[in-house]
Amino acid sequence: MIQSLMMNPRIKHRPTICYRPIKPSDLETLEQIHSDLFPIRYESEFFQSVVNGCDVVSWAAVDRSRPDGQSDELIGFVTARIIMVKDSEVADLLSYDSSRWDQNLVYILTLGVVDAYRNLGIATALIREVIKYASSIPVCRAVYLHVISYNNPAIHLYTKMSFKCVRRLHGFYLIHGHHYDSYLFIYYINGGRSPCSPLELITLIVRCTKTGLKTVASKLMMAKPKWPKGNETQSKRMTNTECSGLEYV
Ligand SMILES: CC(C)(COP(=O)(O)OP(=O)(O)OC[C@H]1O[C@@H](n2cnc3c(N)ncnc32)[C@H](O)[C@@H]1OP(=O)(O)O)[C@@H](O)C(=O)NCCC(=O)NCCS
Repeated sequence: MIQSLMMNPRIKHRPTICYRPIKPSDLETLEQIHSDLFPIRYESEFFQSVVNGCDVVSWAAVDRSRPDGQSDELIGFVTARIIMVKDSEVADLLSYDSSRWDQNLVYILTLGVVDAYRNLGIATALIREVIKYASSIPVCRAVYLHVISYNNPAIHLYTKMSFKCVRRLHGFYLIHGHHYDSYLFIYYINGGRSPCSPLELITLIVRCTKTGLKTVASKLMMAKPKWPKGNETQSKRMTNTECSGLEYV
């Protein structure tokens, strides 16, 4: 069914879009849409985490008015997980008090809407759900994500939703043997903000210097990404880029 939606350029009826959590019965469709929409292959462990809600929060979009009766089938989704600020690649992009060990972030893992339902505001609504959820966590300081540098619809979407493009990561994605840059977009919430006072800037410089040392260590250790498969990966050369610095866009 999803295949036919992917080939059918537009739907002909008036849709009634509803949002709900992703559940185990969505597994097959979820895998199919990921495979159709993304050049990166995800491990089955990732899909299991999504449908079982283990470490991943998710929202599905469904069309209750589908004439084919598939009124509970996914036509869009967003997946995200909570990351502690101290373990993230964006600690230096936040006015972050390292004594507050409990502060966290929501990282958007994947977002997609099948072709037939594009430009109806579904992705906008899914991102709003993520922002609402993140904002309800008092210690959450931001929502952030990566997007491949040529994905204009997604870049347009995040910019329109007031995400800030704060960094360009060179060669972040490795797809079919080719490296592609990514942009890092961030949306501050709950008083989260970029560092700006002189003291905070000094802290930032110190942190980047420390990160530089960590980069050397991580290169030696050749850290492996967890979910994407094989050589079609997000390189996740996070520490590398943090150090190289300050390649903001
Ligand atoms: C990116 C994506 C999720 C957007 O989904 P969507 O439901 O169509 O998004 P919305 O309807 O909420 O908003 C789409 C916006 O992008 C704009 N847009 C669409 N195609 C565009 C393009 N080629 N270039 C620039 N903007 C574009 C639309 O005009 C609309 O903006 P507007 O509201 O200012 O008119 C969808 O295109 C998709 O699933 N793409 C494949 C997977 C993907 O790239 N995911 C994101 C990974 S980071």
